[in-house]
Amino acid sequence: MRAMVQHSYGPPEVITLQETAKPSPGSKELLIRIQAATVGPSDCAFRQGNPFMIKLLYGLSRPKFAVGGTELAGVVEAVGEEVKHFKPGDRVLGMSVKSFGAFAEYKCLSEESPLAVIPDNITFEEAVGVCDGGATALTFLRDKAQLRKGQKVLINGASGAVGIYAVQLAKFFGAEVTAVCSGANESLVRAAGADFVIDYTREDFTKTHKAFDVIFDAVGKRFFPECKRVLTANGMYLTTEPRMSTLMQMMWTSLFKGKRAIVATAGLMQNKANLTYLMELTSSGTLKAVIDRRYPLEQLPDAHKYVETERKKGNVIIQF
Ligand SMILES: NC(=O)c1ccc[n+]([C@@H]2O[C@H](COP(=O)([O-])OP(=O)(O)OC[C@H]3O[C@@H](n4cnc5c(N)ncnc54)[C@H](OP(=O)(O)O)[C@@H]3O)[C@@H](O)[C@H]2O)c1
Repeated sequence: MRAMVQHSYGPPEVITLQETAKPSPGSKELLIRIQAATVGPSDCAFRQGNPFMIKLLYGLSRPKFAVGGTELAGVVEAVGEEVKHFKPGDRVLGMSVKSFGAFAEYKCLSEESPLAVIPDNITFEEAVGVCDGGATALTFLRDKAQLRKGQKVLINGASGAVGIYAVQLAKFFGAEVTAVCSGANESLVRAAGADFVIDYTREDFTKTHKAFDVIFDAVGKRFFPECKRVLTANGMYLTTEPRMSTLMQMMWTSLFKGKRAIVATAGLMQNKANLTYLMELTSSGTLKAVIDRRYPLEQLPDAHKYVETERKKGNVIIQF
């Protein structure tokens, strides 16, 4: 099968197209013929082995898993004899957070993995797009912030993959949404449902006179101390960026009532229920996939280069 392989950490050019052995499913696994995958900042971080924690977890001198990519959508080609809930021909969305491997034509996933059947009215690209960003936004807003109807939420980085689905989910949960993005992306975030938009190139949201129940920094660009001023008395600051300082603030603020800081690794917290829920919301039209660019598999290094500009809007899709 064709796979985009990297045997060392480094720039996008370390990833090259190679012929590798097609995997065969174990007794509890599905063999998926991949139709679409996504590239995001985490894929670039894994490729580089930066931050250093990645090397500690996934190989000090070279990546333990030579094929990257975590979100995938495709068709089940075969199943192991003990698989109960999936069959050949099923269209599925899956996450491979433990062994990566989405940047190849085939991947075997355990039936226990985060997996969902893709409804007929959703394309593979839409399914995998909504998953890349939507799953993270869901974990932060529904599970961590427990966002409620009528609350005021500010989403920083609202035009990125996490941000654009956070805007849509926050509206669905009944919150009043202030989206922070550059002026060029204002129409995009308004179409996603934002009630108010702050252009970060002209205005610093931490200096506004409004207070927010929840500030979700989807791109991890602002710090808890600077956001505190514009949080309500029991307001919550959430960030996707696991900095040491924020982890310390999270521990400290959990001891008292008042303003809190939260960071989470949402990728590791995904499950079938979340993916199925995202598919239901997409099937009903509540969530809409926002796809910026598409690249064929062999142009994966170019996709990485684009993602590293930090300008992508919604998702970057890899086509097979
Ligand atoms: N903790 C977790 O579990 C978890 C899970 C998934 C992702 N992440 C992390 O979450 C972050 C966001 O991922 P993503 O895929 O949403 O990123 P992304 O799509 O690559 O973000 C790009 C977007 O960020 C906006 N942006 C760039 N600089 C900004 C700034 N200073 N202020 C506001 N917006 C800015 C850009 O808009 P403009 O062009 O308008 O600037 C662009 O639309 C990444 O760091 C990723 O690694 C964490």
